[in-house]
Amino acid sequence: MKIKFYNKIDSTNLEAKRLIISGKISKNIALVAKVQTSGIGRLNREWISEKGGLWFTQIFPNQNFNSSVTIFTSIILHKILLHFFPDAPLMIKWPNDIFWKDKKLAGILCSNLGNTSIIGIGVNLNQKSMSKEITKLATSVYIESNTKLKLKIFLHKYLQQFEKELPIYLKENLHPFKPYYQKYDYLYGKVVSISIHKNKYKGKAFSISEKGELILKIDNKEIKFLSADKIDIID
Ligand code: BTN
Repeated sequence: MKIKFYNKIDSTNLEAKRLIISGKISKNIALVAKVQTSGIGRLNREWISEKGGLWFTQIFPNQNFNSSVTIFTSIILHKILLHFFPDAPLMIKWPNDIFWKDKKLAGILCSNLGNTSIIGIGVNLNQKSMSKEITKLATSVYIESNTKLKLKIFLHKYLQQFEKELPIYLKENLHPFKPYYQKYDYLYGKVVSISIHKNKYKGKAFSISEKGELILKIDNKEIKFLSADKIDIID
């Protein structure tokens, strides 16, 4: 996959959308930025993107991934993190996060624009500290391990693994990846409350479906959730 570097940009996801709309993308490409001035997270939240983190967006023309690609991506990202830190307490948290113990390390934001798919990924890698607003909730690889990783080496390894496993995902969806997910499922067995469009549900996290839906056990029934505005762990 070709890679384009930016020293500073508003958001690699926004740049991806601009390039797609202007018809400039004909092949798969990844846009990487040292700093994002208006990084975007899930639900349009701000994504703090200071120097040291890895901020990038993969663009796939002539693809329309379905929403389970977020889980596929989190599995690949988790594998690469584990490759560098085999003993780290790295977990996958539905729907789009990687956690280091109980703090967020990385987030993923996927969407389709016309006949093109984009996957935006933010990994807190080499930041020496997290900014005040998020320090209780988020962490970086450097803070946890005291080790600096070369962003480019990490990125190449990730892209390589993604390209290797993408054909399997496209053919069989999440089916072959479920055992891996289950091994590192942060929510498994936890009682969670989920808010969607002002409705609230409470249940025990059980697994995910092949479509990437979260399965909660509520009153002994299995209920599937494709998305959530908010997830709180109660127990
Ligand atoms: C989330 O967990 O809320 C998703 C965060 C996604 C952040 C990445 S950083 C690179 C790309 N550009 C953006 O503006 N957002 C994504």
